Amino acid sequence: MNNIVILISGSGSNMKAIVEHSIKARWLERYEARVSLVLSTDPASKGLAWANAAGLHTQVLSHKDYPTLSKDQAREAFESDLCAVLDEQAPALVVLAGFMRILSPSTVEHYAHRMINIHPSLLPAFTGLQTHERALLAGCKFHGATVHWVTAELDAGAIIDQAVVPVLSTDTVQMLAHRVLTQEHLLYPSAIENWLKTGSKLKAVEVGR
Ligand code: GRF
Repeated sequence: MNNIVILISGSGSNMKAIVEHSIKARWLERYEARVSLVLSTDPASKGLAWANAAGLHTQVLSHKDYPTLSKDQAREAFESDLCAVLDEQAPALVVLAGFMRILSPSTVEHYAHRMINIHPSLLPAFTGLQTHERALLAGCKFHGATVHWVTAELDAGAIIDQAVVPVLSTDTVQMLAHRVLTQEHLLYPSAIENWLKTGSKLKAVEVGR
């Protein structure tokens, strides 16, 4: 079974798009793949409420769950618990979808070639935050989103796929963000499906699973 685990922190619209596409495109029958867990760092997130209502297996885990520990210890405890929860799923793919934590190199290494992210810019341009503001300020004529492998360096892993949108002279940040997000909802499910069609089999042979 190709268990796909999705990690979210907020509205979870990409997670929703992936789940809905996985059902519509019959990933279970075609690729023996399913979204086996949605993990949210925020117990009050909109995405978590949607996943629960959809009957998905969900879990909440936050670095704030360790109030008595120092910042460094809390990060370590959070990531150790996160890995334990994820590893129970033996995930074929860990999908970061608006997951607002930067993971330590050892956690990233543990999921090497199994962890992907979606970033709201045409990487390598505009790593980090406020990508739409920065694209507008830079006078970009095109902007977009990137699905990439997660490596220890932020937003720097190999690019899997991208979606491009035009930037209009009348755009506000909200208008541009909305145009990009609409494309993300097509790009992310399609990138995962392409991986299911090809990459997952190659990887399984490579690592002898
Ligand atoms: C998206 O813009 C994504 O590119 C970025 O975080 C946002 C998540 O949105 N990584 P949502 O939670 O999927 O609605």
